[in-house]
Amino acid sequence: MLKIAVLVSGGGTNLQAVIDAVESGKLTGTQIVLVLSNKPDAYALTRAKEHGIPSVCIRKKDYDTPADYDRAMIDAIRESGADLVVLAGFLVVLSETFVQAFARRIINIHPSLIPSFCGDGFYGLKVHEAALSRGVKVTGATVHFVDSGTDTGPIIMQKAVEVREGDTPEILQRRVMEEAEWKLLPAVIQGIADGEIPIGN
Ligand code: GAR
Repeated sequence: MLKIAVLVSGGGTNLQAVIDAVESGKLTGTQIVLVLSNKPDAYALTRAKEHGIPSVCIRKKDYDTPADYDRAMIDAIRESGADLVVLAGFLVVLSETFVQAFARRIINIHPSLIPSFCGDGFYGLKVHEAALSRGVKVTGATVHFVDSGTDTGPIIMQKAVEVREGDTPEILQRRVMEEAEWKLLPAVIQGIADGEIPIGN
């Protein structure tokens, strides 16, 4: 059984896609053991509670030093027994210490075809605003391993999505979620649970 900890900051629709996939039996051999948010009012926490998944809120500002914050994050995930850390709209930059603690065992979903529209400052709607202002005709989503850079780790899976005339950032974001993100994330987790996508020890 692959045990996963899902890290969130907001609405948690990607978390919901994983919950639905597990509960419907489409995603097998996987258990969500923890939902961890940096925001106490993240709706993702409500989703976790509704589905009986242990959840916790850990905020950087509640710790005296960055090292104390890292320790709290690492301890919470280790105590959950998670084998894999899934960043699903987690909008906090992770430290080198954290990344090292779970080397090649952290994946992230990003709402563009990396290397386009990624890196510092590209998150959420901003990604889609940038894609529309550049005038790309195709965008999409990427799931990748997390290394110490921002969106620089090895790419695992990508899915393209058409940009349409008249798209707003909100409309494009929704299409990228529906056609790419909510399918990609469960698909990658299935690949890891099945041992087809190797993760770190
Ligand atoms: C998703 O579109 C995710 O790809 C993006 O934030 C959104 C979270 O939505 N992540 C990033 O931009 C990371 N750089 P959700 O909370 O509804 O899953």
